[in-house]
Amino acid sequence: MDKVLILDFGSQYTQLIARRVRECRVYSEIVSFDITAECIKKENASAIILSGGPASVTGKRAPLPDKNIFGLGIPVLGICYGLQAMGALLGGKVEKSKRREYGLAQLEVINDGGLFAGTARRQDVWMSHGDRLVSLPRGFKRLGKSANSSHAAVADLKRGLYGLQFHPEVVHTKCGTKILKNFLHKIAGCRGNWTMANFLKREGQLIKQRVGEDKVILGISGGVDSTVLGVFLHSVLGKQLTGIFVNNGVLRQGEAKEVLATLRGRFKLNLRYNDATVRFLKVLKGITDPEKKRKAIGRTFIRVFEQEAKLVGGAKYLAQGTLYPDVIESHSPFDGPSDKIKSHHNVGGLPKDLKFKLIEPLRFLFKDEVRKLGVELGLPVDVIHRHPFPGPGLAVRMVGEVNPERLWILRQADAIIMEEIKQAGFYKKVWQSFAVLLPVKSVGVMGDERTYENVIVIRAVESQDAMTADWAQLPAKLLKLLSNRIINEVRGVNRVVYDISSKPPATIEWE
Ligand code: XMP
Repeated sequence: MDKVLILDFGSQYTQLIARRVRECRVYSEIVSFDITAECIKKENASAIILSGGPASVTGKRAPLPDKNIFGLGIPVLGICYGLQAMGALLGGKVEKSKRREYGLAQLEVINDGGLFAGTARRQDVWMSHGDRLVSLPRGFKRLGKSANSSHAAVADLKRGLYGLQFHPEVVHTKCGTKILKNFLHKIAGCRGNWTMANFLKREGQLIKQRVGEDKVILGISGGVDSTVLGVFLHSVLGKQLTGIFVNNGVLRQGEAKEVLATLRGRFKLNLRYNDATVRFLKVLKGITDPEKKRKAIGRTFIRVFEQEAKLVGGAKYLAQGTLYPDVIESHSPFDGPSDKIKSHHNVGGLPKDLKFKLIEPLRFLFKDEVRKLGVELGLPVDVIHRHPFPGPGLAVRMVGEVNPERLWILRQADAIIMEEIKQAGFYKKVWQSFAVLLPVKSVGVMGDERTYENVIVIRAVESQDAMTADWAQLPAKLLKLLSNRIINEVRGVNRVVYDISSKPPATIEWE
């Protein structure tokens, strides 16, 4: 299988590059910018892409790639900062530009160099840079220019090194996908055979080889990811697999019953149910810090799995439905130039003394890719399109302390939102919709009496992969209905607000 490595210099678009490459049916992985040339060779990469990034190569602590990567004979595409880093390392000159170039620009193609084959001579491209390459390294020539960048596209055709000052990965760059396809398929010779069917076949073989005759337990929540993984692993491992559904006490209304019915009834999974509500609520008592909550839940999950593993007869492996965004967002600042956002319970929340070996076949997939896997596996539409629900559950939708009284309020409000969103036909249109309970009380008046009660937030977002999201513009009529029902039906709530923050700068969940 062809694999493209994307060296991450911290651009907000790095994940988007990975997605675009996969849309060209070539497998891609994001790695830290300082990966060594030797490592890249071992990985047997077919092509390398250097992402953009917020740093300046003219700065003292600029992140730079290993210079030897340019001598591996593997085609390289540098994008924005990636181009400047490559240019500077190979002997070109990068300068701070007087004017920042941001937004749409017209690229004039001077020489197609294979990269622009089949694209227009003049085309709209998306720029976002302050520095620019002013003189080229030896062996390079200019492929294109724009009003503000005389070296908007460059290449050393002999060595297979290409650089773009603009961002081919964003939709505003009209021919962006064609340019990436040219680089991947024509220049790097990638075959474009990365399909979900191939993914299943290959991963299935790898897992079987790795596990042998050992037993595997799978943490299963009833969400899309773990259900897809459960059905997949069941097809590969049969009776060696036992699903463990842990009720962590912070599930939604009626969820435990529903999940059990689906997984056992519809998918015939070999499943154990552990109601650990009391244990989790005890652990969570008094914790208000979001990261502490996440870590406490992650740890407790593992302790329960350890118990279950013994009961299953000594499972060595723990399978988890960890996705790529969980991995990316849980990275610490020391792993690379991107910041740690939050410790997803199944990545950063794992205890250090973990006794299991992990199996995480979805670790490099985005949510929409997992949904495609679900289709490939023949899962029904209602399961594939379930809204994501975080492992730490309602605990991270409840700012402040987690206790049974507050859980009761949040569950009621959440159930109303879910019911009405479905009724109004918005469930499939939005990525996620849910209630958040704030640790704030406000004054109200109900039937001539003063009240001093809780605030519920309605959160509904649109997104493609949860890496970025927009607040959903739900109709005012629907919001009004939600507000009326929540205030009238949920005791202890006298105010409902709508969250109109996008991600970034906010995140989807409140904690
Ligand atoms: P944020 O809040 O980071 O969430 O914008 C992005 C997506 O991830 C989900 N999420 C989690 N999923 N374990 C999970 O399985 C977690 O710890 C976790 N935290 C957030 C969130 O619901 C959204 O879809």
